[in-house]
Amino acid sequence: MATRADTDHWPRYNKAQRTRGVRDLCAEIIDGAGPGAGRRALDLGAGAGVETRALLAAGWSVHAIDSAPGSATQIREGLTGERAARLTIGEHSFADLDALPASDLVYAGYSLPFMDRNAFGDFWPLLTESVRPGGWVAVNLFGVSDTWAADTSMNF
Ligand SMILES: C[S@@+](CC[C@H](N)C(=O)[O-])C[C@H]1O[C@@H](n2cnc3c(N)ncnc32)[C@H](O)[C@@H]1O
Repeated sequence: MATRADTDHWPRYNKAQRTRGVRDLCAEIIDGAGPGAGRRALDLGAGAGVETRALLAAGWSVHAIDSAPGSATQIREGLTGERAARLTIGEHSFADLDALPASDLVYAGYSLPFMDRNAFGDFWPLLTESVRPGGWVAVNLFGVSDTWAADTSMNF
């Protein structure tokens, strides 16, 4: 049976996400934060890069992070010119970080619940400390009553 522990789980999931629309939460924060020119956004757990592209289209410089093998290639695919120049990518786990770049917007779409729950306590302060005054943060978290809450490989 296929599980999230399979090395191709997230690459396969993300490949199937390429053609969907921008997630509502990201669209809302892009609208709320206004033009991104001259400002940096973080897309944490960027997956296929759908939201990274929406942020780039809104003028943001984007640092995208995802640990899935091949994610950097997938996120960058098809991007050229000045949009590509505004994108940096880290293909590594959140748990491997000891700082995040200073940013004006942080978006983490359905990614933080999948990080190691023992690493989350050290990671969250990195996220909040990266946000400049007046910055915007939108993340999906799963509650402790979630039907998946018994899964100790996840974070609730
Ligand atoms: C459910 S997908 C969401 C992807 C994208 N944000 C979206 O909304 O489609 C979760 C993503 O988080 C990434 N991820 C999971 N755990 C991670 C970790 N510990 N560090 C970095 N990325 C992680 C996975 O590789 C995957 O791309």
